[in-house]
Amino acid sequence: MSAKSSSLKLAVLAGDGVGPEVTSSALRVLESVLGSAGVRLECQHELIGGAAIDAGQGPLPDSSLRAATEADAVLLGAVGGPRWDSGEHRPEAGLLALRQGLGVFANLRPVRVWPGMERHSPLRAETVAGADVLFVRELTGGAYFGRPRGVAGAAPTRRGVDTIEYGEEEIRRVAMVAFRAAGQRRGRVTSVDKANVLATSQLWRQVVTEVGEQFPDIPLEHCLVDSFAMRLLLEPRSFDVVVTENLMGDILTDEAAALVGTLGLLPSASGGGDGPWLYEPVHGSAPQIAGKGIANPLGAIATVAMMLEITLQRQDLAGLVSAAVGTVASQGPLTPDLGGSATTAAVTDAVLQQIQGQVAA
Ligand code: NAD
Ligand code: IPM
Ligand code: MN
Repeated sequence: MSAKSSSLKLAVLAGDGVGPEVTSSALRVLESVLGSAGVRLECQHELIGGAAIDAGQGPLPDSSLRAATEADAVLLGAVGGPRWDSGEHRPEAGLLALRQGLGVFANLRPVRVWPGMERHSPLRAETVAGADVLFVRELTGGAYFGRPRGVAGAAPTRRGVDTIEYGEEEIRRVAMVAFRAAGQRRGRVTSVDKANVLATSQLWRQVVTEVGEQFPDIPLEHCLVDSFAMRLLLEPRSFDVVVTENLMGDILTDEAAALVGTLGLLPSASGGGDGPWLYEPVHGSAPQIAGKGIANPLGAIATVAMMLEITLQRQDLAGLVSAAVGTVASQGPLTPDLGGSATTAAVTDAVLQQIQGQVAA
């Protein structure tokens, strides 16, 4: 995959719940933008999560991992849902195996309040106006992958164990991603940990500080996760790049959705391995609204913008898509999660119209 490539080979893993609904919106936008830029799009659709389990396979079939590994980029919808919560295999295990298999240790989750979107947040408009935070979440370590783990014994003395473990190199490489990203933005890094209690966090803080010494122009602030969780809502504009470990990053990025008013708006991109990047909206399968045609597609469409920028290195096309998402998010039509009554398809149509309008202008 090189800059100004004339084709994009995409592995598409739509998954469960609203996953297929928002993925098809994302693909409509990607096809349209690449079509007008003369870039050929080749999609290979594969199973993951509950959809793969229902097809009699594990949550990440070998063929899906192979297709992902061999693609230029991977687009994922969402996995999981109550139907599979008590089964032998969990859909979420497929997603974790995919992230691990691709080696995508750095998960970029930008949260940006576009002008005009302030009213969607339950927070005061003057608090969230202009907030623009890039979370860099470590994605292939910590409690998600540590061993030992499991539940052992018999009631009433069963015990559950999870392990949080981080090697120094795992911390260093994700911290490098954060500092480099900050260099392209407003030049500040906040590292979030629980160093007053956790040994892994004490190592995290030391290693992030060492990495920071290589970037003397980028101020580094350490923040404990509990007070960070509060500051994020009280003073979101005081953050630029926030780097944190896997579980804390999972929780804090859903919290950050309160700044924009819905999880349905947040995109993400994960990379750092030798292979393709993995692109997925931050939200899950939203089982309560799945199948109703009302899922917000803007997070998945903004995810396409990240793909255009990072994998295709087409900042021009990424800018078109991001601007269209920003305009629709502020002016409508809006899905019910943002107080509107528009369908997924209508919002997608509006994004496509915005893009065509910008191209024509
Ligand atoms: P969720 O993200 O699916 O939903 C949280 C809330 O946000 C719900 O109110 C939901 O309706 C709303 N929401 C989410 N996406 C939306 C969209 N595009 N448009 C409008 N509203 C949207 O989280 P949950 O309910 O805690 O989890 C449901 C399932 O999804 C679980 O099985 C979980 O494991 C899975 N999950 C998967 C991913 C993923 O595949 N990346 C991420 C998170 C959760
Ligand atoms: C996310 C999700 C996943 C995670 C789950 C589904 C495994 O919540 O992408 O944020 O915890 O990483
Ligand atoms: Mn999550």
